[in-house]
Amino acid sequence: MDNSLRERISILPEMMDLLNQQIKQEQLASSSYLAMAAWCDQNGFSNSAKLFYDQSKEEREHMMKLFGYITNNGGAAISPSVEPVNHSFLSLRDVFESALNMEIDVTKKIHTLMSTARKLEDYNTELCLQWFVHEQMEEEQFFRDIIQMIELMGDSPLQLIDDRIKRENH
Ligand code: FEO
Repeated sequence: MDNSLRERISILPEMMDLLNQQIKQEQLASSSYLAMAAWCDQNGFSNSAKLFYDQSKEEREHMMKLFGYITNNGGAAISPSVEPVNHSFLSLRDVFESALNMEIDVTKKIHTLMSTARKLEDYNTELCLQWFVHEQMEEEQFFRDIIQMIELMGDSPLQLIDDRIKRENH
């Protein structure tokens, strides 16, 4: 390996493997949100469907952010295979609770990545991950607020809840 190539490979292999696993998680989140959007569309909740289509797109952007980070640091980013995701939900509330649970799971994984980056004294990756830590905080709060709103609206017609979701999302 010549020196110019060596200088371009700055990402640690251990960190790269973990970031590739996270790429898979973000892809899984994107696919899961697409399934949630489809369920909402099929059940007449068009505002919630739009919210989940947007979320799906955002998760793909998260995946590409990590993908770009690995390649820009001379690593080998791996295009993830698409895993099967859940398409059946009991209710609109169940969809949003599943979304929140998924985000809580992603947050845990991001925190584990962050502590590994710190252990390895990989400050570049730590900086990259800080964006994700903040994003996860916002996403969890976003879904908690919607679930709380659904709880407060109690037995209101589901279509009213869906209309309210449109307003919350703007
Ligand atoms: Fe990118 Fe919300 O996980």
